[in-house]
Amino acid sequence: MNKLGGRNEHVPALELWTAPEEYRTLDQGAIAGEWLLSARGDDRGILALRSDDADLVYTSFDASQPVDQPGDLRGRETQVAQLVSGVLFRRNHGIISGPRGSGKTSLVRTFGQYTDRDGVVVLYSACDNGTRFGDLMREYLEQIPVSSFEPDMVGLIRERIGALRSDATPNQIIGLLAQVKYAQVIIIADEFDRVSDPDLRWKIASLLKLLSDARISVRFVLVGDASAFDTIVQSHPSLTRHITRVTTDPLDHDAIIAILRDCAARCELTFTDAALDLIEDVACGSPYHARLFGMHASLCAIKGGQPSIGIDQALAGLRRAFAEWALMNPEAGQAIQGVAEGDFGDNEPYARFARSSVGRASTDDRDDRASLTAEEQGALAPALERLDGVVTFRDATAPQFLIALCRSAEKIMPLAKKVAPRA
Ligand SMILES: Nc1ncnc2c1ncn2[C@@H]1O[C@H](COP(=O)(O)OP(=O)(O)OP(=O)(O)O)[C@@H](O)[C@H]1O
Ligand SMILES: [Mg+2]
Repeated sequence: MNKLGGRNEHVPALELWTAPEEYRTLDQGAIAGEWLLSARGDDRGILALRSDDADLVYTSFDASQPVDQPGDLRGRETQVAQLVSGVLFRRNHGIISGPRGSGKTSLVRTFGQYTDRDGVVVLYSACDNGTRFGDLMREYLEQIPVSSFEPDMVGLIRERIGALRSDATPNQIIGLLAQVKYAQVIIIADEFDRVSDPDLRWKIASLLKLLSDARISVRFVLVGDASAFDTIVQSHPSLTRHITRVTTDPLDHDAIIAILRDCAARCELTFTDAALDLIEDVACGSPYHARLFGMHASLCAIKGGQPSIGIDQALAGLRRAFAEWALMNPEAGQAIQGVAEGDFGDNEPYARFARSSVGRASTDDRDDRASLTAEEQGALAPALERLDGVVTFRDATAPQFLIALCRSAEKIMPLAKKVAPRA
């Protein structure tokens, strides 16, 4: 017997039920309320699981943390090879861009581990909005090991680093980085899209160009949403020659299936092929969604004491994942629930639009994207925004939750409701 299922059998489900804190304090309207009512039927058992059981599922699927072991990184062999060749060997700077949850941090950390093994000094930090250029650079400079500098220069370099002001210029930083003589240094700046200050972006672009031109053995790898890099490249068109750019496109079918199998194996569960295909289809190549949907499906399976995750558990898992997301996004959640459940007619155009919004960056041609009519946009309005004239989801993780609810609605809703819209 599966060890989770085995222990779970003895738990008196109803007695252990108490609504978690966030459910009790968040009264976020109809969507949360409705979903809680339906979710509670399922959740009594799940929340009553011994915490060890649920914990093992959480840690096995680990949807909120970047990949820790290079062996767990699936489907990114090409991108790792491009970074190693471009940044490590050809000494370019790197840019990693992609949507939320697509695996940017996992990729850059894995790349960092490879380069670390090669004796390169790798410094990692996540950017914060409001950081000033001089403060950010001081933080990096202070982390460079003193063994990278001429021994008799160390005292002076330290003094100059300490004296750096918040409004330091790229030239001042170059003066210090040029002192790195005995190491190759790679500085990873994750969450670069959080930097909204144009001055900081402009200074970093200048610094990158100056570093390349002066042949200094320090490179940057910037990581973030694709839009963050437009200004960098626009402000220094010649910088493109010195940059290796890698995108975290949606993962292919086999990589997502492998992730789901890896995670399930860690908690001694298995997916049926139908359940794997369903979750893979809904995740649309996003490792974050695959892990999250897989985790909820697994919780549903162990609730029933089953070692196998079938289509019913997968569908229940999709609904649970949506309900959890809707608690944090109540208005968008309510709109998505309406369209998925057929309140505005067939949900197919909405699902098609959602799928096309998570298309591969390289084939992201605006003309090829599915669009919504004005009426359909109205139905989904709280979940949408208009960016540069293009209608898109306000929360980049929303499309898969919409598809998840459409897929589960197909199964649980009477066909009549789908084809005969309620006004
Ligand atoms: N190639 C991969 N193989 C297996 N799991 C992955 C892969 N890439 C990412 N993951 C998993 O997907 C989730 C999201 O990954 P990660 O945090 O790296 O994404 P991100 O793009 O940096 O997200 P954000 O935009 O929120 O910073 C994590 O649970 C991570 O473990
Ligand atoms: Mg990240």
